[in-house]
Amino acid sequence: MTTRSVDVLVIGTGIAGLSCALKLAPHARVLVATKKERADSSTNYARGGIASVLGEDDAYELHEADTFVAGAGLCHPEAVRVLVREGPDRVHELMEWGARFDRGPRDRLSLGREGGHSRRRIAHAGDHTGREIESALVAAAEGEPAIEVLEDHLVVDLVVRAGDRGRRCCAGARVLDNRSGAVVTLEAPFTLLASGGCGQVYRHTTNPGIATGDGIAMAYRAGAVIANMEFIQFHPTALYPTEDPAFLISEALRGEGAVLRTLDGAAFMERYHPLASLAPRDVVARAVDHELRTRGETHVVLDVSAIPPARLDERFPGAVEGCRARGVDPRAGIPVVPAAHYVCGGVLTDAFGRSSLPGLFAAGEVACSGVHGANRLASNSLLEAVVFSDRAARVIVAGLESPDVDGRFRGAALPPAPSVGNHEPDPGWLRGARSRLRGLMWDLVGIVRSDARLEEAAAGVAELKRDAAERWQRERWTEEGAELRNLLEVGELIVRSARLRRESRGLHFTSDHPYRDNERFLQDTLLRLDEREAS
Ligand code: SIN
Repeated sequence: MTTRSVDVLVIGTGIAGLSCALKLAPHARVLVATKKERADSSTNYARGGIASVLGEDDAYELHEADTFVAGAGLCHPEAVRVLVREGPDRVHELMEWGARFDRGPRDRLSLGREGGHSRRRIAHAGDHTGREIESALVAAAEGEPAIEVLEDHLVVDLVVRAGDRGRRCCAGARVLDNRSGAVVTLEAPFTLLASGGCGQVYRHTTNPGIATGDGIAMAYRAGAVIANMEFIQFHPTALYPTEDPAFLISEALRGEGAVLRTLDGAAFMERYHPLASLAPRDVVARAVDHELRTRGETHVVLDVSAIPPARLDERFPGAVEGCRARGVDPRAGIPVVPAAHYVCGGVLTDAFGRSSLPGLFAAGEVACSGVHGANRLASNSLLEAVVFSDRAARVIVAGLESPDVDGRFRGAALPPAPSVGNHEPDPGWLRGARSRLRGLMWDLVGIVRSDARLEEAAAGVAELKRDAAERWQRERWTEEGAELRNLLEVGELIVRSARLRRESRGLHFTSDHPYRDNERFLQDTLLRLDEREAS
């Protein structure tokens, strides 16, 4: 098996991975691995924008307060403070790297508003902000000789070995070259997971096919602490009927006056929250789900008639074109349903992106930095990615410059690669198992949960895991197989976390325990593999 050594291994080419690589480039040789092409990332799918205190009427305290309210008691105060106060500098850096956000009179940034925000603070590029940021970062990274991007390389597992004083530490990763089928070991004293979320574990999701929870699953198998996996955010307005991925209709439309209505034309959000259509996302998704179940209807309608047509075309070209391409006239009302959108949990990190496993960092959706608590405030995710990857880069640079880095992490032999079978996998079985898992998670671990549904889900995931484990003793690694292994791991983490939280809070709502229980559950849900089992 081939082994390569680099200073820093970054896994993922979205906003967290590329912005960290750009920060590291003057100091280190950075290898960025991605399982598809470099521009294939969840960042590309982010529509609304990036929230930050950029307007004259705004203040750090207001953004912090809005984030805390959405987070339902579980935000980590220090992480939120860092997010909000370092945010504006990071947004300006994105602009220096070439991202162009919409501007208004006197060339000031034009700021949008989304659910849960008390001020206009969303910098955006039309309604495809993620695409704008991603293309700026890809171009900037291409101009950096110290950054090498390895496309079509799927990271299969992290490499862990005994480091300083016998403590287990991350020493890089084993990577499958999708083109040749070969497995390569990438050795690095510092590894940043920036591999995004796990929306593909649900049947209906706004996340692209690549969002298979790879980073969370690998970090768990390697023994890192994973937090708050029960908090899955369902976006209330995915275009109906849903595709895979579902086409996202940005919340920013509601920020500009669009209103949710049932099929008979009645606005219903006033009955659920004083902020009506601009209530926090968990409230809106549950309200839509409730209306659909009680009325037996397939979708609700986003009425955009309050937005002047010219403004709609100019501010939301993505939504307008996306609807028209699918035969929907947005002005006649956009049919929408909820879809899985974001995981607030992930690899537990401190305020510098450090996981519990020395040498392993995480930033972006793969991480649980503590800023989102039990429910993420809209458009805080791109901000979180760029703020904490910057902080991780600072610690990594200091670590690379410290004299004992080689002694701590390098020199000793790597553990042998795990043996894998050499039989061809059965693609039909892999696809079938993936689809069964996604259906089961959607039906049993969705917006409204219950003890009985979670128990059924746990049994279903366990059975799929058992079948898969038997196959993987015989079959060689393929991308589909490795993704399924990660999806099963993540599905199990979500179900286990949801069963531990016997209350309802933020994005986790269970009909058997419908109230918040601060006495027993005002804390993160933490899961960690027994050290003896960790890979
Ligand atoms: C949206 O535009 O509605 C999505 C923004 C986000 O997920 O924060």
